[in-house]
Amino acid sequence: MRGLSVLSTFACAGLAQALSWSATPFNPAAFPLAVKTPYLSTWLPQGAGAALNDAWPTFWTGQITGWAGFVKVDGKAYSFLGAPAVSGATFTKAVQKSTSFTSTQSTFVFSAGPVDLTVSFLSPIEPTDLVKQSIPFSYMTVSAASTDGASHTVQVYSDISAEWASGDNGLTVNWSTDTSNSILTHKVQLANQAAFSEVNDHSQYGSAYYSTPNSVGATYQTGGDATVRAQFINNGKLPNSQDTNFRAINNNWPVFALAHDLGSISSKTTPVIFSVGHVRDPAIRYIVAGGGVQLRSSYFWSQYSSVPTLISAFLGDYNNALSRAQAFDSKVQSDASKISADYAAIVALSIRQSLGSTEITISKNSDGSWNTNDVIVFMKEISSDGNVNTVDVIFPAWPVLLYTNPALGKYLLEGLFRYQASGQYPNKWSVHDLGGSYPNATGHNDGKDEAMPVEESGNMLIMALSYAQKTGDLAHLKTYTALLEQWTSFLVSDSLIPANQISTDDFAGPLANQTNLAIKGIIGIGAMAEIEKLLGNASKAANYSSIATSYVSQWQKYATSSDGKHLTLSYGNSASWGLSYNLFADKLLKLNLFPASIYQMRTSSFIHSSFTHLGTFAETAWYKTVQQPYGVPLDTRHTYTKSDWQIWTAGIVTDTSLRDFFITSVKKWVSDGLSSQPFGDWYETTNGSPQGFRARPVVGGHLGALIL
Ligand SMILES: *[C@@H]1O[C@H](CO)[C@@H](O)[C@H](O)[C@H]1NC(C)=O
Ligand SMILES: *[C@@H]1O[C@H](CO)[C@@H](O)[C@H](O)[C@H]1NC(C)=O
Ligand SMILES: *[C@@H]1O[C@H](CO)[C@@H](O)[C@H](O)[C@H]1NC(C)=O
Ligand SMILES: *[C@@H]1O[C@H](CO)[C@@H](O)[C@H](O)[C@H]1NC(C)=O
Ligand SMILES: *[C@@H]1O[C@H](CO)[C@@H](O)[C@H](O)[C@H]1NC(C)=O
Repeated sequence: MRGLSVLSTFACAGLAQALSWSATPFNPAAFPLAVKTPYLSTWLPQGAGAALNDAWPTFWTGQITGWAGFVKVDGKAYSFLGAPAVSGATFTKAVQKSTSFTSTQSTFVFSAGPVDLTVSFLSPIEPTDLVKQSIPFSYMTVSAASTDGASHTVQVYSDISAEWASGDNGLTVNWSTDTSNSILTHKVQLANQAAFSEVNDHSQYGSAYYSTPNSVGATYQTGGDATVRAQFINNGKLPNSQDTNFRAINNNWPVFALAHDLGSISSKTTPVIFSVGHVRDPAIRYIVAGGGVQLRSSYFWSQYSSVPTLISAFLGDYNNALSRAQAFDSKVQSDASKISADYAAIVALSIRQSLGSTEITISKNSDGSWNTNDVIVFMKEISSDGNVNTVDVIFPAWPVLLYTNPALGKYLLEGLFRYQASGQYPNKWSVHDLGGSYPNATGHNDGKDEAMPVEESGNMLIMALSYAQKTGDLAHLKTYTALLEQWTSFLVSDSLIPANQISTDDFAGPLANQTNLAIKGIIGIGAMAEIEKLLGNASKAANYSSIATSYVSQWQKYATSSDGKHLTLSYGNSASWGLSYNLFADKLLKLNLFPASIYQMRTSSFIHSSFTHLGTFAETAWYKTVQQPYGVPLDTRHTYTKSDWQIWTAGIVTDTSLRDFFITSVKKWVSDGLSSQPFGDWYETTNGSPQGFRARPVVGGHLGALIL
């Protein structure tokens, strides 16, 4: 299965010019291929550039998820997907001519002799249809067109390996092939299932599925990688045979293959459709009142009683799914292009990744029927750790939820509210997350979750109000008023002078009196004033409002550098500064707690730095230290930054060229050829190299400038 893994033919770091194909809108660090849930997350790593048939697709961690594709044209075999070596068979690589991505699709066009091949990966974004959005499947389609006007015979082949079923390739898998209902489906799973467990972030239970319509000329085979691939390369079809020698994933690598004979083609064919998916049931263990655990399932079960009926519906829906995807892509493109083309590209690359960290779940009624009135969305933090519904990860992702369907945000908060309202969480501030290891949302009854007291309390208040403002739905505010008031009281005592603690940027370490963290807490109090107004308690509203206002004026004195030119990173340290991205929430909620002079101060500071960088403005000794080729550092402690916070800052500055500087910096980073990871939100501003995070849902925050 492994064989060649030609990572790149381009020696130097960088840059689109070195690619031998055209890339629209640019060549990203990794292309999303099948990205729908925390466990269906397969990408094509790029670095300086890798064609779809130069490298193996990988899970978001970088571990290979074997996925191969061949096409035969007039009897000659070409690979188009993956990097297989097949002894005993001869093929060449189809030549990749172009790549493109939108919010839902990644598309690769190849030349295979006299035929052009279009290979498209569609991971649907269906935010307002909870059944469809919860389906853990993704499409690959392949179509062919003659380029010389003549007719050519074409056969198309693809397989997946058992690497889709586990994070440990030494474990034994078993498999089966279902040929009923006009569909060919291979199913593969660990022989010893470990419910709710992970190895290397892969699920250790559930099954992977690879399917295609069983149309005329469709064939299948399961067996060792070299055997099965050579069979197709040599014969252009598969023998409809099954290998039942169940064995380890890496023992003569069993693969699950499907092929179509398209016959003689001239004009562009209708696409051959494949679907790949990973299903677990139940999906989540969730703590409920009294210490019990509730097992929750993906929402789609309320409509489909079995995986075969689900796959049949999913494959049958392809044409409509494609139309919906195109409509969604166009809307995003048109909305985001109003800011800039670079911005539209960043947003398009972010949406699948962000929503692909989530799962929509329901519970069962006592009679065993599905309870679709009980919806909770779960989000895996991904890469920074495996926490469930981390509040300060949902918070940066919030803009993608507001943009696509605010109800998804409500359902993400619901699990957090309900758990804390059960009284089992002992701290007076908001919990950090619902459980240390996805998919166990089993809470923190010992109160020893990663403490971010001001950060998470402020985040919960801000998101609760934001959802209510956007939708007019006050249900959470009414049901959980006591919790919201509890967190507000905590902020009243702890946000103006924040104790030594971490913020969401925990990698930067703890610090007392963080200017930006105080902003978060004060906005939280201001948000509660609005919440009390919505709930009809004018006197409480007035109290919180006056506290917030008075804190803002006190904060200004603490937080401004002695020369009055900028905000500090922490009170009293005039030499320090940082991105004050928490002001974004003041704009989002339209509270206007912080005076315009603060934004202008920040704006003029940043204008200095960006223009200094551009070489057109007088330098100051201080801003010299912050101007960097790939953006503005997070703060004075380091030269790294966060893409989400840069975009939030871009959204609140009042100067268009400065806004564009932030946006262009993020685009420069994710297209600079130095990373082969799914969109990393943490990177180095001096040279555009990646830091540790990848594939995180927080890139949903890249929609921040869009939703203000
Ligand atoms: C395959 O493994 C599953 C457990 O994951 C088991 O339920 C099933 O019976 C096994 N199938 C065969 C054919 O051994
Ligand atoms: C979730 O909890 C179950 C039961 O305690 C355990 O077996 C499993 O390993 C846990 N999963 C993770 C990812 O830690
Ligand atoms: C205002 O709210 C604070 C914090 O909850 C509380 O301590 C204080 O008593 C309230 N003041 C009034 C006048 O209600
Ligand atoms: C935090 O700031 C306040 C107000 O300036 C100051 O009184 C306090 O000593 C500071 N705390 C720390 C730990 O620096
Ligand atoms: C507002 O809250 C206060 C304190 O809990 C309570 O005394 C008062 O009755 C409430 N007013 C309204 C209009 O609900």
